[in-house]
Amino acid sequence: MSLESKKIEWGIVGMGSMGTNLSRNFALNGYRLSLYNRHLKGKEEQIALKQKKKFPELKDALAFESLANFVSSIKRPRKIIILISAGSALKIFLKKLIPLLSEGDIIIDGGNSHYKETEKINLQLNKKKIYFLGMGISGGDKGALNGPSLMLGGDKEAYKFVAKDLENVSAKRVEGKPCCTYLGNLGVGHFVKMIHNGIEYAEMQLIAEIFSLLMETFQGKINNIQKELESWQKSSSESYLLAITSEILTYKDDNGLFIDKIIDIASAKGTGAWASESGISMGYPNSSMIAALQARFTSKMKTQRENLSKIITLKKEDATISIKKLKIIYDICRLINHHQGFEMIRNSNQIYNWNADLHVIAHLWSEGCIIKSGLMKTLEKEFKTKASILEMDVFKKNILEAQTNWNSILNFAAARLIPIPCISSSWNFLISMTQEKSSGNLIQAQRDYFGAHGIMTLDNNKGEIINGPWRIKN
Ligand code: 6PG
Repeated sequence: MSLESKKIEWGIVGMGSMGTNLSRNFALNGYRLSLYNRHLKGKEEQIALKQKKKFPELKDALAFESLANFVSSIKRPRKIIILISAGSALKIFLKKLIPLLSEGDIIIDGGNSHYKETEKINLQLNKKKIYFLGMGISGGDKGALNGPSLMLGGDKEAYKFVAKDLENVSAKRVEGKPCCTYLGNLGVGHFVKMIHNGIEYAEMQLIAEIFSLLMETFQGKINNIQKELESWQKSSSESYLLAITSEILTYKDDNGLFIDKIIDIASAKGTGAWASESGISMGYPNSSMIAALQARFTSKMKTQRENLSKIITLKKEDATISIKKLKIIYDICRLINHHQGFEMIRNSNQIYNWNADLHVIAHLWSEGCIIKSGLMKTLEKEFKTKASILEMDVFKKNILEAQTNWNSILNFAAARLIPIPCISSSWNFLISMTQEKSSGNLIQAQRDYFGAHGIMTLDNNKGEIINGPWRIKN
């Protein structure tokens, strides 16, 4: 190893858009880097070198296709960030990487890995005395370049060693506070990122539903919709996702608006499904993200939709909508979406013995990431005194006042045949969660009738499980 290469502070693996942009960000912050990308004959050749040549800020970085040379170029204890596809690609890569590492090296997985996988890898690496951090990164490739939101979990000693560097490259609030924090052990960083993505799915779907409702109101005049959404951006509804939506709607080419050219099939890489599943496995009604995920699934059923639209032709009824009311409901649906996501983190703290502080997470998500918004900044403040969003006084008045607005939006959507799965599931969640009584007693009776699963009666304060009178009769 040359004297020069001994100064290499960070190794970055994976020169896709995220890896390249994060490398550029590190380089712009003055760090010397070694860059590695695999060699796949005819498909991926000299990728690290090509990226180094493409971006002037990477001129001092060393580019590798040999993993052994890459590893030995980095100053010990090595600090390596991996930005490759989660799952099997990561596993295969780690198998090759681990034998080349030394005790005390720090490996950071910056992909969208499942938090349970992160836990397994963490424990496996610790056996070899290698430190591991699972790092959720948000902000897309632009965030990776300009400052992403970084959510870390894993070995605390390792975090202390890399904290300053990661804070330097992360997003900052105007007052300079970095959006980068250690949240706890094992998979918590990736868990929190997964919940971020679940919230992201529902935020996107809510905007898509608002868009459909506005399309009906403005008779398809996208210019008007664009202006309307732009004006929402100057209000309590402000968010990064709303901002990019109104910008997207301005794009045109010779044949008209670009949005009209895009096939109406929404893809998903998996984190939204994981987030949805995790609500199910912890027994939490995370209906907003599930509705959003299912809306993507419905969008994929293009052929079936086309066929059924010919067989079942439903009739639209006359109805109008107030845009002011729509905006009020949009704000409340967002509140419910955030409420559910943060409640899932609160639950996970109990299940996994984590201590991820909700106000810290709201801070992490207030800059750099895809779900940054004015609401998130309010939540950051409010979580200091209240643990649950629907209990926060600041939102109470709006929620109570919105009841008649809900009616009109739900009725309008039903009359004009506009699917609003996320908005209507938010209504159901709000109404269900704010009523003392549920219909769960009838479910219990049914379970007991057919399967002797037992019931608890209100007059039994010992919590005894008994069988109902139908069991005696049968
Ligand atoms: C981010 C994003 C990013 C990506 C997700 C979701 O925070 O930067 O969440 O990680 O958008 O992978 O992608 P899908 O919509 O394809 O599931």
